[in-house]
Amino acid sequence: MPVLKLLFVVGSRPQFPKVAAVARAIAKHNASGDATQIEHCLVHTGQHYDDSMNDVFFRELELRKPDFNLEVGSGSIGYQTGASIERIYDTLGTWVPDWVVVFGDTNATLAGGIAAQQRHLRLAHVEAGIRTGNLHQAEELNRVIVDRIADLRFSATAATLNNLWDENLSANSFFVGDTMLDNYMHFLPKREMGFAASIGLKPGHYIYSTIHRAENTDYPERLGAIIDTLIAVNNEMMPVVIPLHPRTRAAIERLGRTGELEEAGVKVIDPIGFNRSQSLVEDCYLVYSDSGGLLREACFSGHFCVIPWEYTTFPEINEVGMANCGRVVKDEMLKRLFDAPGPQDRESITNFGNGTAGEQIVAKFVELIG
Ligand code: UD1
Repeated sequence: MPVLKLLFVVGSRPQFPKVAAVARAIAKHNASGDATQIEHCLVHTGQHYDDSMNDVFFRELELRKPDFNLEVGSGSIGYQTGASIERIYDTLGTWVPDWVVVFGDTNATLAGGIAAQQRHLRLAHVEAGIRTGNLHQAEELNRVIVDRIADLRFSATAATLNNLWDENLSANSFFVGDTMLDNYMHFLPKREMGFAASIGLKPGHYIYSTIHRAENTDYPERLGAIIDTLIAVNNEMMPVVIPLHPRTRAAIERLGRTGELEEAGVKVIDPIGFNRSQSLVEDCYLVYSDSGGLLREACFSGHFCVIPWEYTTFPEINEVGMANCGRVVKDEMLKRLFDAPGPQDRESITNFGNGTAGEQIVAKFVELIG
């Protein structure tokens, strides 16, 4: 019986749902009794390691424990990427797959891609073709490089597939839909109900915010404008809840503004897992976030997302009237928040496929090995 071997490289929070969708599809494929059975190996660079940033996602997404944890931990981009390349390279000498699969646009994505090519192994990139056009941003640099060196690219939307065509990368690039939508649909019936109410928020009457992009946290003027906006909107519009990423917490401290959000009544909580985040997005009035993942979950669930950023990773969400982006200036962001529409129907969901991205990815690997 032919065995197809896939090795997945992950490292940080946004990658866990993506790999979970593909792992579920593998389990389904193997259970179908298909002649080609799939073995997989999960390699975790260890970039994220806290319970709230890591373990909770493994539990809730029903992900198996990593086969290799490379324990890279925190540090500069140079350190994280370099150490990850070295350790992934070594791991690829131990467990040799037919394909190395990387996800999204983090340090683990770039490191996995480079190590795979250095080992002369075939490389596949899930969530290919996202472009903001700003190469000074770490994630953009990572995805441009990985798309260029990948042997197989899977796009979440038609527009991101078009970006690949524009770069002459049409060969071996496929639109499969978004693994985030797979998860959204899979876990919707199981999501934790009533988390908002349990922390004193009225469903339908709060803003769900997350801020973690280095472009926002690492520039005092921008972070200051975001803090001022959060306080103003909480006072003048409706309550705001913000699970605080450790990077953002540290940046607020450096700015000397620790405790200001809490004193102003903004509900600041520790980072939350997948289920609670799904619950908060489902019950909110709107989302104010610089996260590309939450932007999509907001769209799937019919909630508008005000993006505190000049760029967006998915302009197609803006085009269907479910998000806007713009300058990180208090008055402009406040206006966008006040003018944003409340919860809507979920029509725009179709841009991201039909919730079978994981299955289509697995089917493509099986077809290619055949
Ligand atoms: C990384 C990704 C980003 C992704 C984000 C999701 C890159 C370049 N960036 O950024 O694309 O959107 O993850 O969160 O790969 N920390 C903890 N506990 C942890 C992990 C980190 O406290 O488990 C703290 C450390 O102080 C660390 C800081 O958070 O220095 C930033 O973490 P890091 O992994 O470097 O980058 P993220 O901002 O999380």
